[in-house]
Amino acid sequence: MKNSLLSSIEVRGHTIRNRITMAPMASDVATEAGEPTEKHFKHYSMRAKSVGLMIVEHAYVTPEGKLSKTQLGIHEDGLVPLYKDLLERLKPYGATMALQITHAGNAAKSEVTGLPVYGPSPIPHPNPLYASGDEVQELTLEDLERIKIQFGKAAKRAEEAGFAAVELHGAHGYLLNQFTSPLVNMRTDEYGGSLENRARFVLEVVRHVREVISDNTILIYRLAAADYAPSVPVPMSQKGLVIEEGVEIAEWLVAAGVDILDISGGIGGSRPKGAPAAYFLSLAEKVKERVGERAPVILTGGITEASLADAIVREGKVDFAGIGRALLTDPEWADKALEMLR
Ligand SMILES: Cc1cc2nc3c(=O)[nH]c(=O)nc-3n(C[C@H](O)[C@H](O)[C@H](O)COP(=O)(O)O)c2cc1C
Repeated sequence: MKNSLLSSIEVRGHTIRNRITMAPMASDVATEAGEPTEKHFKHYSMRAKSVGLMIVEHAYVTPEGKLSKTQLGIHEDGLVPLYKDLLERLKPYGATMALQITHAGNAAKSEVTGLPVYGPSPIPHPNPLYASGDEVQELTLEDLERIKIQFGKAAKRAEEAGFAAVELHGAHGYLLNQFTSPLVNMRTDEYGGSLENRARFVLEVVRHVREVISDNTILIYRLAAADYAPSVPVPMSQKGLVIEEGVEIAEWLVAAGVDILDISGGIGGSRPKGAPAAYFLSLAEKVKERVGERAPVILTGGITEASLADAIVREGKVDFAGIGRALLTDPEWADKALEMLR
């Protein structure tokens, strides 16, 4: 039988009730200490009734990787009870809950963090939308080890709080994506140069996180499958990471223990101006062709119609439709989509 947007799917013992994913979107209403607030409950509960997989916005794993003053944090054990409370209250809505964890790398700002800015190489971010203007310090091998452990601790905290899934943010020009992109990673050691070297840190983080979380926690990776999508206008001239490389990384991620691949773009950002509907579909299809038998694939970007979301799943192009801005505009988007398709 063919799958549709209404089909449930089993991943690591969890039944995700349908194929609608709420894409991670920073609501940026945490306290300055990174704590979730009542505003988060309101924001997510308004949208959770019919979504299958809800990915809560990016939370920083360490203060130097914080992007904005009121971003969620998952960098301290003391935050766990607050997330636990949030999740206990969201549980009755029935969505499978994930937390996205991240390090902003050289997109962080000293003005926000009060700390130096770090990146794979001592160069500013090539995308003016992300460049902080601060001097960027090259991460040492000790720093990489430390950050890997911080990702692991953050993932463990998310699991302890009750999230069924953890998503590593490897897209949109933040740290993990900075390593894979040849536009930001100029390293000459074993973490730079060839694709294998550029993917090394990402894979070390994935393997470590998989090791520390329990067997029934789902591991999702948000992959910048290419720095630019074909036919998408972006404000930069260089070529960057290409899809053939993205597919190769996807293959390695799955071998390293990733359960679901969440496909998006890279240094060019998540929502390029003037992009058509489902603008990263060609990237997601290529990833699905390669690893789809082993790991379900989410496609996000420019999906606003339930019929399109249903069609890409029905036609087997991807396994989940990620919905971002349409759910911000209309909190009942998923309720209406299910109603229309039933
Ligand atoms: C306000 C806003 C905040 C976002 N924050 C995040 C985030 O925290 N993490 C992330 O991976 N993507 C983030 N994104 C990108 C979305 O997840 C998504 O990829 C993008 O909006 C394209 O999907 P859409 O066309 O359905 O909106 C954000 C997008 C918006 C509009």
